[in-house]
Amino acid sequence: MSNSINRRDFIKSGAALGGAATVGGLWPNIAIGQSGKIKVGLMLPYTGTFAQLGVAIENGFRLYLQEKGGKIAGREIEFFKVDDESDPAKAPENTNKLIQRDKVDLIVGTVHSGVAMGMIKLTRESGTLHIIPNAGAGAATGALCAPNVFRSSFSNWQAIYPLGKHVYDKGQKTAVWITWKYGAGEEAGQGFKEGFVKAGGKILKELYLPFPNVEFQALLTEIASIKPDAVACFFAGGGGAKFIKDYAAAGLKGKIPLYSSFLTDGVLEAVGNDAEGIETTMHYGDALNTKKDNAFRLGYAKAFKMQPDVYAVQGYDAAQLFAIGLEAVKGDINNKAGIIKAMEAAKIDSPRGAWTMSKAHNPIQDIYLRKVVGKENKVIGVAHKALADPARGCKMA
Ligand code: BEZ
Repeated sequence: MSNSINRRDFIKSGAALGGAATVGGLWPNIAIGQSGKIKVGLMLPYTGTFAQLGVAIENGFRLYLQEKGGKIAGREIEFFKVDDESDPAKAPENTNKLIQRDKVDLIVGTVHSGVAMGMIKLTRESGTLHIIPNAGAGAATGALCAPNVFRSSFSNWQAIYPLGKHVYDKGQKTAVWITWKYGAGEEAGQGFKEGFVKAGGKILKELYLPFPNVEFQALLTEIASIKPDAVACFFAGGGGAKFIKDYAAAGLKGKIPLYSSFLTDGVLEAVGNDAEGIETTMHYGDALNTKKDNAFRLGYAKAFKMQPDVYAVQGYDAAQLFAIGLEAVKGDINNKAGIIKAMEAAKIDSPRGAWTMSKAHNPIQDIYLRKVVGKENKVIGVAHKALADPARGCKMA
């Protein structure tokens, strides 16, 4: 708005802003919704087993912003950061720091499904725009779906469901499932089982340990005695790296093939040869060799002196998604309905390949089949084209 705004226009814009505060006193010349910095809260793990995942998501978000010259729809972005420690018990307090103390316009978070569930309760209540850049909790875009909650990543079911059929088709008829006992591990297990059992496979045993415990030895000994055709698992981050190394040290590598979804992402430098040959399903992979992905990888490597992974892509796409919303309303952050409408219709030109938003606000995307070759999660096929999460129980208000 310019200084020459007339009273009628101001009243009109004030109404559109729902009576939002203005700068400039009684006869203001700038409405806050369309000026000043946009406040973005990053609630991510910066310590613990998922710390690297949080950093990659933030890097991805910042890379997109950097490509846009530091502004989205002409608005500068101010970040407010909270380390959620992947601790569900601290989720309400941490989320409220961003909503009530910092009064952020958008929350980007988080990685851990249990923490995300705690966040959603509060972002749904407050109506704060919320983009989940990783956590796959089914309810986020299922029974608890909400107009202001979006995901730029995957659902726990979605990333691994196609793996079950692949394992069976390779001739492995029995499997053991092993994971951390929390939402993501359990939902990924259900997804794997659904595909594997539907194809004709049999799960011989499900093995659990508490999150983020990495004492795998006793369970690996049990797997050796069960002698399944295959082992499938959900682990990620630092704990995932330790599982890969322990699996090899227990003498299981080369004897019982190991499958997963996230296990090998962001850890290949750390685990060396122990991951060679592990097959996974995922919505991203190395060496996709598309124009978009090549540019993204180059930009990321230049900016952060490391290679990107699936988490970095999800952070980058969270920023792209928000930009589509904010650009549609010309930077007017108070026009939440307009932002949401544009985000719902978004077609994201992602390094992973183009994806669209489901009615429940979860990506509809290709799921790749990958194999670890050297230091790469090499894409060896498409396990499921344009897969949508079933969004069980979602009734969008
Ligand atoms: C989750 O808790 O949803 C999750 C954590 C790490 C990787 C993938 C999913």
